[in-house]
Amino acid sequence: MIKKVAILANGGDVAGFNAVIRGIVKTAENSGVECYGFIDGYNGLLKNDYVRLSTAEAGNAEGILPKGGSIIGSSTNANVFNYKVVNEDGSVEYKDLSDVCIENVKKDEFDCVFTLGGDGTQKSARDFSLKGINVIGVPKTIDNDVACTDITFGYNTAVSVAMDAIDRLHTTGETHHRIMVLEVMGRYAGWIALEAAIAGGADVALIPEIPYDINRVAEKIKNRQKRGKEFSVVVVAEGAKPKDGDIVVENVRDNGKGVDNTKLGGIGPVVAKQLEALTGLEARNTTLGYMQRGGTPTAFDRVLSTKYGTAAMRFALEGKFGNLVVIKNGKIDYASLEDVVGQNKEIGAVSGNTAVSNQRKVTMDDDLVKTARSVGINLGD
Ligand code: F6P
Repeated sequence: MIKKVAILANGGDVAGFNAVIRGIVKTAENSGVECYGFIDGYNGLLKNDYVRLSTAEAGNAEGILPKGGSIIGSSTNANVFNYKVVNEDGSVEYKDLSDVCIENVKKDEFDCVFTLGGDGTQKSARDFSLKGINVIGVPKTIDNDVACTDITFGYNTAVSVAMDAIDRLHTTGETHHRIMVLEVMGRYAGWIALEAAIAGGADVALIPEIPYDINRVAEKIKNRQKRGKEFSVVVVAEGAKPKDGDIVVENVRDNGKGVDNTKLGGIGPVVAKQLEALTGLEARNTTLGYMQRGGTPTAFDRVLSTKYGTAAMRFALEGKFGNLVVIKNGKIDYASLEDVVGQNKEIGAVSGNTAVSNQRKVTMDDDLVKTARSVGINLGD
């Protein structure tokens, strides 16, 4: 019998966090279940910092469907299984503080914790599940790279923002006869770049899954020139890399151990410069950055997030713990967190979007790849 549940939102924010929270709260209230939200993701679970969530009169979970961000915050530096602790003398230690979190959940009698997040968040959720806590994950990320689901919430909004940017770059590029490069996010997956390039009618899309040859891209642009098209739009995923080179890293942070501390970024200006030299056309780079995460969700993301939130609570009422709510072949379903975590088995080991995490990447037989090629989008190969 479920009486009291809590939500935590973890990792980089996306449009749709609040819509999921609202879906969980409304479904909980309809079943007489009390709902709470931990503040700032796993950090809130560690500090036992939470608020009551409600849609009752002037409740905090009312009117949040279109609101960007997360009303309960989120955290990108909270691997509680390997937590960075700065001692009074300034020395740094990494500690497994998961038992503190477990105590908090037990003491305040939460029957289920909903973990809204990407692969790192779900890795920790799986680890909590192994330690006896009832968890249900909800797949969030603009990168769309969570295993076992067809789509994550927040992704569609990021694609829409990138599409809008491509439309705007088209008109300025055409006016000034320039190559307009757009660097988009996505980490080690090319979903945003590929889908936005198709939606915006870009000429080139460079994605991490297809290491590119810059000469092939220049050829495409020169062929367009021959046909009187003195401009081109090139979308570059932040994780794209040349055939004989590596990804471009903006910096390496210290968000704790066992999280991916690599901050990708900077490939856009590199590609722009090279294309300028190879084609003789002026080139400009625009890095879209956090525009892709902020602001109001699209209609698609509002509906997807509402489906995810309401289903998560229904699955909790049915006792389906240790799972991630997913979309499989267009329908709501659930997948074991064990499968989501994949080969990243060890408790407390590396979490986050790293080499050993189970990322869902673009495959060459994906309809998006076939579609892009059919409409003549150059993929750098
Ligand atoms: O995973 C979401 C994402 O926005 C990536 O696309 C991007 O590489 C990263 O997060 C940026 O992380 P941060 O918010 O830590 O700068």
